[in-house]
Amino acid sequence: MKTFLLLLLFLSNLFYNSFAGDTLTPNSLLKDGQTLISAGGFFKLGFFSPGSSTMKYLGIWYMKIPVQTVVWVANRDSPLSDSLGSLKIGETGNLILFDGLQRPIWSTTATSNLSNPIAQLLDNGNFVLRNNDSISESSESYIWESFYNPSDTLLPGMKLGWNLKAGLESKLTTWNNSNDPSNGDYTFNLDLSGSPEMFLRHGSQIIYRNGPWTGFQFSGEPEMDSNSYISFDFISNQDEIYYTYKVIDSSVTFRLVLNQSQLQRYIWYDSVSSWSLYWYVPRDQCDSYAECGPYGFCNSNYSPVCRCVQGFKPKNPQNWNLRDGSDGCVRVTKLDCEKEDGFLKMSGIKLPDTTKAIVIQSISLEECRLRCLKNCSCLAYASANISAGGTGCITWGTELIDLKQFIDGGQDFYIRLAASELRGNSKKKHIIILVVVIFSMLMLLLGSIGYCLWKKKKMMNITGYWRNKPRQLSFDTVITGHLSDDDESRRQNTDLPLFNFETILIATENFSIANKIGEGGFGIVYKGKLVEGQEIAVKRLSKSSLQGLEEFKNEVKLIAKLQHINLVRLLGCCIQGEENMLVYEYMQNRSLDTIIFGLHFFPQNSLQIINNL
Ligand SMILES: *[C@@H]1O[C@H](CO)[C@@H](O)[C@H](O)[C@H]1NC(C)=O
Ligand SMILES: *[C@@H]1O[C@H](CO)[C@@H](O)[C@H](O)[C@H]1NC(C)=O
Ligand SMILES: *[C@@H]1O[C@H](CO)[C@@H](O)[C@H](O)[C@H]1NC(C)=O
Ligand SMILES: *[C@@H]1O[C@H](CO)[C@@H](O)[C@H](O)[C@H]1NC(C)=O
Ligand SMILES: *[C@@H]1O[C@H](CO)[C@@H](O)[C@H](O)[C@H]1NC(C)=O
Ligand SMILES: *[C@@H]1O[C@H](CO)[C@@H](O)[C@H](O)[C@H]1NC(C)=O
Repeated sequence: MKTFLLLLLFLSNLFYNSFAGDTLTPNSLLKDGQTLISAGGFFKLGFFSPGSSTMKYLGIWYMKIPVQTVVWVANRDSPLSDSLGSLKIGETGNLILFDGLQRPIWSTTATSNLSNPIAQLLDNGNFVLRNNDSISESSESYIWESFYNPSDTLLPGMKLGWNLKAGLESKLTTWNNSNDPSNGDYTFNLDLSGSPEMFLRHGSQIIYRNGPWTGFQFSGEPEMDSNSYISFDFISNQDEIYYTYKVIDSSVTFRLVLNQSQLQRYIWYDSVSSWSLYWYVPRDQCDSYAECGPYGFCNSNYSPVCRCVQGFKPKNPQNWNLRDGSDGCVRVTKLDCEKEDGFLKMSGIKLPDTTKAIVIQSISLEECRLRCLKNCSCLAYASANISAGGTGCITWGTELIDLKQFIDGGQDFYIRLAASELRGNSKKKHIIILVVVIFSMLMLLLGSIGYCLWKKKKMMNITGYWRNKPRQLSFDTVITGHLSDDDESRRQNTDLPLFNFETILIATENFSIANKIGEGGFGIVYKGKLVEGQEIAVKRLSKSSLQGLEEFKNEVKLIAKLQHINLVRLLGCCIQGEENMLVYEYMQNRSLDTIIFGLHFFPQNSLQIINNL
């Protein structure tokens, strides 16, 4: 029986010519060991065994690339266990793959009967079935093509999407593993609902989506920019909707492959004779679908990466704080369509899932805003085509999911909020601005004081002046009835040395003219001597100074903290009615007046310091 079958096989083979070149005709048979080679010698079609497998598959790989890189497999789910497989064109004009027992194990499913069918391997890697006549050389008359039945690889010129007329879908499905091209668990396909976008799925679970096409790129892939090597396109018309790419510089070889959970674009380098990873997704935590749940948005520059959109708060604060953002956020203030809500603008955004969004290409962004505002169930809107500065309209009526914010790129997105939430925003903004202004003024003040003190110190060093180490002064006598008797408040105020006015009067002998050592716009400086012998200089600030009491006290505290060993030491102050006085240590070795008024030591600017104090 077996001998008979083999004889039959031998005889039948005699009827078919062995062929050469890129074409299979109804009279020829492609056997294991034989190959079709595209006219320009770019691609090869034949039988192969992947990796360590002993199974045989019919596939297409690059002819010129030494590392066998299979880009298409015919019988992925029905391998041949021996080397007796053969491919031929059947009676209906379809391609049929037979096993050693002449049982068909794989075939194409074209329906139109061809009078003179041929199968041809083209230079772009497409294996096509067409009629042998000149009119059938255009792609429209292919009755079947491998380009519309991809495995895991999208070659330049292949279409990923839908042929609406024929009801055919072209999608990528991973190999099970590198030794087994059978259909794996991961798929990458174009979803037609809403604004079409592509999904990477593990089984039915969405891993990643690239967002809707926004004119020249996908909303979720702002880095995908056509350049001098490669250009991307998304075609959408009545007959077809698909994504495709072109290689502009033909010396470069690109391929896009779905490799388990990653979509990878490789580039071939002859110089190192290997494939190099050019681009891939998903790349970061924020690419992971719905990472931050409904109304949350993901920014990989933040830690944790999830935030709620303004006007929303975490739905499940506990999980949220434990960095599980998947429950997302809930609205803080209910929308009130009657009272006219407003829109919050977010920038650098990957638009949320558009499978339930509504797209109108023809209207402007402003019309889009009005349309959304008028419709109480419209929750957000965005421009559908950003290539011409923003036209078209996408509106969302269901919860906003899988929002990502880019560090670079992305587009504007407008979310409906209650008017009060938007007002809160501007109030908050004002407060922030106020705080910033006050803070910077304070820094400026401190900075200039510091600068002056530093300058003064430098000058003292230049003149070789060193003051004596200050003696510790007891302030027991210093605290006066100006302070409340409350112990707590007293303790708080001990760093404000406050001199009793009587003490100052005695020390300066009632501010006698004899003790006057200088005068300036700020007031008069008197020399004095405390009862326990300490010599002091009292600066009696002119009453015209409009400083309030509290401010004066605070300033003195500040100056007291800034004291330095080389500076004239501030001992404290004295407040009597509307009059404010500063009390300095009087210099022992040189008189303070020399320091303050000795112009050849300390010209104008150092005087200024004392004035400023
Ligand atoms: C193709 O030819 C077969 C046999 O001649 C016939 O049964 C079938 O209906 C034809 N199909 C089409 C689509 O013409
Ligand atoms: C296609 O048809 C022409 C004549 O019509 C013939 O010369 C040519 O050999 C055919 N090509 C193939 C590949 O069969
Ligand atoms: C995929 O490969 C695994 C081993 O890696 C094997 O257990 C499984 O049966 C394969 N699945 C199919 C559909 O061949
Ligand atoms: C799949 O990806 C891994 C690394 O990410 C790489 O080493 C391997 O070559 C890829 N497989 C294919 C078929 O490109
Ligand atoms: C987007 O806008 C550009 C520039 O106006 C235009 O060429 C393109 O056709 C538009 N795309 C769609 C899908 O309307
Ligand atoms: C209002 O928006 C919802 C959700 O987007 C949509 O289903 C509905 O058709 C819109 N109604 C009108 C009148 O546009």
